[in-house]
Amino acid sequence: MWKDSYKKTRLERIELLKEGKYIDDKDYEYLKNSEVLSDDLADKFIENQISVYGIPFGIATNFLIDGKEYVIPMAIEEPSVIAASCNAAKIIKASGGFKTSLDERIMTGHISYYNVKNIDGAVNIINSMKEELIKLANDSQPNLIELGGGAQSLEVDIKDEFLVVYLHVNTLDAMGANSINTMLEVIAPIIQEKISAEKLMSIISNYSTHSLVVAECELDIEEKIGKKIEMACRFANSDVYRAVTNNKGIFNGIDALALATGNDWRAIEAGIHAYAARNGKYMSLSEWKYENGKLYGRLEIPMAIASFGGSIKINEISKISFDILGNPDAKTLARITACVGLAQNFAALRALVTVGIQKGHMKLQIKSFAIYAGAKLEEIDLITEKLKNAKHITIEDVKKVLLEIRK
Ligand code: MEV
Repeated sequence: MWKDSYKKTRLERIELLKEGKYIDDKDYEYLKNSEVLSDDLADKFIENQISVYGIPFGIATNFLIDGKEYVIPMAIEEPSVIAASCNAAKIIKASGGFKTSLDERIMTGHISYYNVKNIDGAVNIINSMKEELIKLANDSQPNLIELGGGAQSLEVDIKDEFLVVYLHVNTLDAMGANSINTMLEVIAPIIQEKISAEKLMSIISNYSTHSLVVAECELDIEEKIGKKIEMACRFANSDVYRAVTNNKGIFNGIDALALATGNDWRAIEAGIHAYAARNGKYMSLSEWKYENGKLYGRLEIPMAIASFGGSIKINEISKISFDILGNPDAKTLARITACVGLAQNFAALRALVTVGIQKGHMKLQIKSFAIYAGAKLEEIDLITEKLKNAKHITIEDVKKVLLEIRK
């Protein structure tokens, strides 16, 4: 159904979403009319609102994840990202698609104390209060408890001059910042009453190491390319300059989906970057190995993505994104997001070790250059056609073609 969807018009693609029952009539009308966040609603989101910033919203197709087909909503301004996702997902689908795994989805908050008089004694006191503190934390969140979530465990540790209390909470489908921050603020003074110390702060941590997700794929691919992709992964682990760019490519997919679904992508990114440096060195988040004629790819990341709370589903496009995805819960969304990251990485590595990145990028870049050069909508296609075989294109080349067209 999605064959050559990039050649179709925007309205045809929206029709396809409706035909495939990815969206309902309300979503359909909203998309068809190109509606965006209203100023009234935007004004409720932030202080000093003056307008709404538009970012293209599109779909990536061909994703086969744990045996189920998905269409991926993405909000992204970079021209090549959706095309790369579709191509990579198509190749991966032909080899059986993605497999994912996820054990738990637990968020962590922490309270830090300083000027602790007897640090070992304080640790013992807090350890002896664990059950009471968890109960007090949970009493402050009856709704969360009723729905089956809540604080599950508490740990205490010494980090340099600080005594740190970690509270691990099952926040169900939410990121859970509000619940966790409230819980921490409830228990922090009670701990402080029992130990001789001062409180520095209490806040959720965006390093969600108890919410790890793994996406994997196994591909039939030409040996030469497979071995080079494996080497590209080793290179990223040897050189942080490459590791950062490798991981940036992964975030092209993750952030676009996080943004489309109304998630806090800064929180997600910050946690994943820290995970990339968990062994004391910033490394590639993905692993690629070529073995027995197959290329094996794996991405393991903390994934605090949510399907409830914050601006999720308040912004209409976020709601439509969830509809397109079949309204997954937070765990399923985490699995999907990791696959999108892995697909994006595969697309980039495959291009980098073969034809180079510019070939694919250039065609799409011409459109951005044309807009930048002041081309009208009807001139953009003409410019793209005229420059389609050029190897390297600068904004000056585009300006020249634009002048020629206008002569
Ligand atoms: C560009 O947005 C992303 C890439 O640089 C990623 C990579 O180099 O792996 C192509």
